Amino acid sequence: MHQDVEKILVTEEEITERCKELGRQITQDYTGKKAPILVSILKGAAPFMTEISKRIDLDVEMEFMCVSSYAGTGSTGNIKIIMDLQRDIAGENILLIEDIVDTGITLSKVKKMLLDRGANEVKIVTMLDKKERRVTEIHADYVAFNVPNEFVIGFGLDYNQKYRNLPFIGVLKEECYK
Ligand code: PRP
Repeated sequence: MHQDVEKILVTEEEITERCKELGRQITQDYTGKKAPILVSILKGAAPFMTEISKRIDLDVEMEFMCVSSYAGTGSTGNIKIIMDLQRDIAGENILLIEDIVDTGITLSKVKKMLLDRGANEVKIVTMLDKKERRVTEIHADYVAFNVPNEFVIGFGLDYNQKYRNLPFIGVLKEECYK
């Protein structure tokens, strides 16, 4: 275990297993429907996108977006598009792939933006759901794990851009961010 990690919340094996389950469920839910476009929100969602996409047995496309929230704007926060999708999504079924839903601001804005562009349907797949922190009404359709309100890192999640490469989800030691 990394020296900055207080404890492991979810192991690599548990993530793999849960992705298999969610992948099966998504495959079932979209069988007979137009195959979805997987839209991953960089950077944090990249490892989860890699893991879950392998478990979805449909002819999906993969797209990436990079957004950042404006600092210091709290619950009314706005988002800025750093890198946009490479294609038009009008009439498409979108599965938004995220590492974590925290306040819910990012996903509620991105979801609205994609619906405004004419997406037929936008559903959310998140690796982690931190419900305690929610400030907006946003529902994640597929959740791999619910997590408590702790400083989580690993498997895409960072602190100051570090720890994204840890193969598990852990809690960062308080002394590392205080
Ligand atoms: C994180 C995470 C989500 C967002 C969730 O991204 O990947 O996109 O915050 O928070 P919210 O529910 O409070 O909006 P971040 O802006 O840290 O960028 P990153 O993906 O590059 O780490």
